[in-house]
Amino acid sequence: MKNFIPEEKVQEILERVSIEQIVSRYVSLKQQGQNYIGLCPFHSEKTPSFSVNPSKGLFYCFGCGAGGNVFTFLMKAENYTFVEAAEFLASQAGILLTDNKLIKKVDKEKNFLIEINSLAQKYYHYMLMESSKGKKALEYLKNRGISSDIIMEFGIGYSLDDWDSLISFMKKRNVPPSELEKVGLISPSTGNNSGYYDRFRGRIIFPIYNLNGLIIGFGGRIIDDTIKAPKYLNSPETKIFQKSKLLYGMNIARDEVRRKDLVILVEGYMDVIAAHQKGIKNTVASLGTAFTAEQARMLKRYTDNVVIAYDADEAGQEAALRGLSVLHENGCKVKILTLPDKSDPDDYIRKHGPERFVHCIKNDAVHLLEYKLRIAAQKNNLDTIEGKKKVLDFIIRDLTEIDSLVEREYYIRLISSKLGVTEQVIAAEIGKYSKSLQNIGANRDKKATLRNNSKEKYLLGNSIQYRVERFIVRYIMENPQKIDWFQEVVGLHLFQISKFRLIIRSLIKYIETNKVSDGFNFKAFILTLPEELQSFLPEILNTSEDTYSINDCVYIIKNNWYKTQIESLKKEISAAEECEQREVVDSLVLNLIELQREWKK
Ligand code: UTP
Ligand code: MN
Repeated sequence: MKNFIPEEKVQEILERVSIEQIVSRYVSLKQQGQNYIGLCPFHSEKTPSFSVNPSKGLFYCFGCGAGGNVFTFLMKAENYTFVEAAEFLASQAGILLTDNKLIKKVDKEKNFLIEINSLAQKYYHYMLMESSKGKKALEYLKNRGISSDIIMEFGIGYSLDDWDSLISFMKKRNVPPSELEKVGLISPSTGNNSGYYDRFRGRIIFPIYNLNGLIIGFGGRIIDDTIKAPKYLNSPETKIFQKSKLLYGMNIARDEVRRKDLVILVEGYMDVIAAHQKGIKNTVASLGTAFTAEQARMLKRYTDNVVIAYDADEAGQEAALRGLSVLHENGCKVKILTLPDKSDPDDYIRKHGPERFVHCIKNDAVHLLEYKLRIAAQKNNLDTIEGKKKVLDFIIRDLTEIDSLVEREYYIRLISSKLGVTEQVIAAEIGKYSKSLQNIGANRDKKATLRNNSKEKYLLGNSIQYRVERFIVRYIMENPQKIDWFQEVVGLHLFQISKFRLIIRSLIKYIETNKVSDGFNFKAFILTLPEELQSFLPEILNTSEDTYSINDCVYIIKNNWYKTQIESLKKEISAAEECEQREVVDSLVLNLIELQREWKK
């Protein structure tokens, strides 16, 4: 992905934007010495452990370990790709990223289509609010309790019950039918008249906005439920409208979703509108289609916490389960709310008021497992052994995936009481299932197990080795002119932790190919690292609690190296002795003596 943005553009961006300004849109920052500190936007905390270092262009959170440069920050905060982050930052800094003519042409066409939509919206809205022909529609909305304010906020309109009123309105505005067709507002007719007809006729019109508040499509609802026609009609897929990528209401809801750190996901237009009208503004809709990974990623830009409040009918339940698994796979924490009496959020809010609805969201929404248990229990006969087995099979995998013992115990108890099976039996079933998984895993990937057991595992975290390696890496970044000394006196081979070894290797390369005499450019260096190491660099730079001297560190790292080498030599020797390989033993012992002598020096 990176390759799409030329290196010099990336440098230009890094030089022109200040990380503390970008970050401060998300975090309220306080200056503390050279750094700025605040509450981490990536995990919830009460005391600040998030810090930004403007001179190095990096951020780091001591709480959750998130860290990186301004690109990394936006990629995390907005779920941007690298290119998207670059585009955003470039626009902020007034840098032109590309003068590719093709891109410009596509943009121009899209802008024109959006303009047409926005003109159409004004027309529909006028018909609803001002025209006598729109009276019936306005009455319908009032009967459903929809206020004028919310009609304005959502830009709702009405399409007349004619075949060509939009076509003729647009003709007067010099918009030809061929363009209207491109946004799906009209369709070619098979008959022999004018050649086209309006797509939306006699419907309440809901404009659909993208995240930036631009109109990309429409939905239309009939106002007479006795008419034999689909209740809702939507714009077809066009160059600017892709249903699977959008969430209705997100443009209005996004700030509130971030503030509340929660999004309520509903099915329909009317659910969103009813919720917003009653002040529940962190509500968006997936518009009755299967929830997609793209929509999940969009939500994740603003929050990880989702409550699905779909309709309580069978279709709604199925859709909720699907949405749940997509969201879960994309790292969201999902709960599901089932409203009583088969009502949807709109019905419920109108009947019981917004407070009761919010209360349900807080108290009655259940996690994946409880929801699955409920559904499976509805579908199977719990009085039979067969039924009980089916329910358990349906949820066993989710059950084994729960790491927290407390949580697991809670569910075991719940399932036990629901199925009338003892807790011991359920625990045994979990054990059996995990074991079968392990067997599959072990056969499939013996190598991976070996890798996991390698000694590096024990060197992580707070071991002296880890801290010493980290210290040396930091020392070189702060004193790049010492790289020759490092290669002569220390040497890469002394490093046991692969992350640090990789960073040092990149450092050597970077220092060799860049001018570092004027100071080391962290912002530029970090971009030469593989992504997983980028977030690691700030941690290295920020851990100043280690108060070793560089000489101590070199002493310790050498010492450790000799110790491990000697230990493994000794093991090899005893293995060779056991096999009575005299010659091998002799040569290994010589090596050992040599090594021990070197060590003492
Ligand atoms: P619902 O039937 O639950 O719609 O369908 P609703 O919003 O509650 O509408 P009201 O209360 O009857 O007015 C959920 C969503 O599924 C899509 C629409 O986006 C709708 O909001 N849908 C439904 C269609 O696209 N076409 C249809 O024919 C029906
Ligand atoms: Mn409804």
